[in-house]
Amino acid sequence: ACGLCRSRTNTVFGVGDEKAEWMIVGEAPGQEEDQRGEPFVGQAGRLLDSMLAAIDLSRQKNVYIANVLKCRPPGNRNPEPLEVDRCSSFLERQIALVQPKLIVAMGRFAAQTLLRTDASIASLRGKRFSYQGVATVVTYHPAYLLRNLPDKAKSWEDLCFARETLAVQQAAAS
Ligand code: URA
Repeated sequence: ACGLCRSRTNTVFGVGDEKAEWMIVGEAPGQEEDQRGEPFVGQAGRLLDSMLAAIDLSRQKNVYIANVLKCRPPGNRNPEPLEVDRCSSFLERQIALVQPKLIVAMGRFAAQTLLRTDASIASLRGKRFSYQGVATVVTYHPAYLLRNLPDKAKSWEDLCFARETLAVQQAAAS
């Protein structure tokens, strides 16, 4: 739906359990993702997998992972507003089909796109939002954490907050 189809190798649609309660939303495929057609398989992806494993989640078992953009922006530049705009309906539909109980938006582009805000990650962390009725929380992007290791502790707090959000919701429903 945008010009990125001309430079991509593969569309990177999503991966994981299509009935997952947890859905992770990132920004856009990088080089390795573009080569392999799977989200978060590079260095940031390995960090994501190990963070998820710490709370007993994995793409093989119980989490679904997708990005705002399905094609790699050349040179890993930031997504452009038009690209986000054109691609959003695919993410919307993925969320509607998977019907997660919780969305974790990782990084500025995921958070700002889903929550329709231009607020910073720092100001969005630690709060519960709703995206089309699905509880949504915000944390740093794993690629950012690789460059800012001390913030890993905050990201861990965010994952614990996400887990608690889901538990509170399930307790209220039972
Ligand atoms: N960063 C993202 O946001 N998504 C990927 O799939 C890989 C890196």
